[in-house]
Amino acid sequence: MIYLDSNATTQVHPEVLDTMMPYLTDQCFNPSSGYRAGKSVKLGVEKAREQMASLIGAQSQDIYFTGCGTEANNAVMYSLATMCGDKKRIVTSLIEHSAILRVCEDLEKRFGFTIEKIGVDEGGRLDLTAWKKAVEQDDVLLATIMWANNETGIIQPIAEACELAQQAGVIFHTDAIQAVGKTAVNIKDVPVDFLSISGHKFHAPKGIGALYIRSGLRFEPLLKGGGQERGMRSGTENVASIVGMGKAAEIMQTCLEKDGHDGIAELRDYLEAELQKKLEGVQINGAKEHRTKNTAHLSFEDCEASGLLILLDEYGVACSAGSACMTGKQQPSHVQKAMGFSNERANSSLRISLSIFTTKEEIDTAVEMIVKAVNKLRRVQGRGGVGPVTIYTS
Ligand SMILES: Cc1ncc(COP(=O)(O)O)c(C=O)c1O
Repeated sequence: MIYLDSNATTQVHPEVLDTMMPYLTDQCFNPSSGYRAGKSVKLGVEKAREQMASLIGAQSQDIYFTGCGTEANNAVMYSLATMCGDKKRIVTSLIEHSAILRVCEDLEKRFGFTIEKIGVDEGGRLDLTAWKKAVEQDDVLLATIMWANNETGIIQPIAEACELAQQAGVIFHTDAIQAVGKTAVNIKDVPVDFLSISGHKFHAPKGIGALYIRSGLRFEPLLKGGGQERGMRSGTENVASIVGMGKAAEIMQTCLEKDGHDGIAELRDYLEAELQKKLEGVQINGAKEHRTKNTAHLSFEDCEASGLLILLDEYGVACSAGSACMTGKQQPSHVQKAMGFSNERANSSLRISLSIFTTKEEIDTAVEMIVKAVNKLRRVQGRGGVGPVTIYTS
C-alpha cells in the first residue's frame, strides 16, 4: 500500500521503536519508584523531555507529557475556564480541529462562554484584522489558533496572531499538532503561552502528547491524582511512548536542520505538477507558499472525492478527503467552507500528505493511480456529474 495520509498519523520510526523496546521489556519500572531501576527509567523520561523541548526551542521544565494531543488542548481550555473570573470569551478560528471546537461548544453550552470564531481568506489564512478586533475586547480569556491546519497544511500567521493577543493582554494557545516536526516551531520566535503537541504526527506512537506551558503561568490540572509531571498531569507515565516521542523529536530536529524538509516538498511539488500535467481541472488549494511541506490539498473538477477514495483504496493508495475525525460525515469540511469553496469544489478535494518515508517511486505510482481513478470517475459520472453522496475519510 502506498501511504499518503501522514497528517492522519505516521509510521513509528524504526529508531523510535528501538528506543522504546527496553521500556516495554526489562526497563518496566515505575519512574516514581525510589530504587535505582526506577530512577533510571525516570532519567529516560527526563531525556525525552529535553529532546521534546529542544525541537520547539523551549526549556525542558516547561514540557508536560499528556495522553494525546486532544488532551493537551482540553487541558489548556478547561484549566483556563476554571480560573476565568468574569472573562468568558474565547477567540478562535473557524478552521480549528474538533479537539478545540468541541471543547468550545462544551464551554459555551455548559459554562456560558461566548465563542468567537474568526474566518480565513481563500488561501486558508487567518483574517488578522478581525482577529485583532476580537482579541481587544475586554472579556477575552483565551485566544487559540492552530499553527498549521490538518486538512490543508496551511500555516497560520501565528507570530502576528500571538503578538496581537498578547498585546491585548490575552493568553495565547496554539494547537501545533500539525506543525511540530513538520515545520520550524520555535517558542523563542513565537512566544506562545501554551502549545499542544501530538507524537503520532511525527513518527512517535499514537496515544502520547505534550503540552508546553510558559513558566510562571497559572494552570489547573485536568487530571489530578498521584502528582506526576510535577502535579500538572497525574497518571503513571506512559514511559515507552514518552521515550519514543523524545527520540522522534530528536530525529525530526535533525531532519529539519538538514534541509527543512525540502526533500519532502520536492516530492509534493512533483506530484502536483505531474497531476496538473496529466489531468485537466486540478486545482491546488490554499496559499501555496504557506503550506507545511508534506501536504497537498487538491480539487479534481467533476470528480467526487468519495468515489476517488474508494477507487484509490482499491488501487492501493491511501489518502483522504477532509480530516480523519470527519470519517463518515456527508458534508463538506468546515475548513473548506471557511475558505469559501463551493460544495462541488469541497467535495472533489483530496488531502495527500507525505512523510520522511515517502519515495519518488511511490509518488510516481500514486500519480498513475490518481490519474486512472479520476479518468474512470469522469467517464462514469460525466463532466459536471458530481453525485450527491460525499463520504469523508481520513
Ligand atoms: C490539528 C490537530 N489537533 C488535534 C489533533 C488530535 O490529536 P491526537 O490524535 O493526538 O489526540 C489532531 C489529530 O488529527 C490534529 O490534526
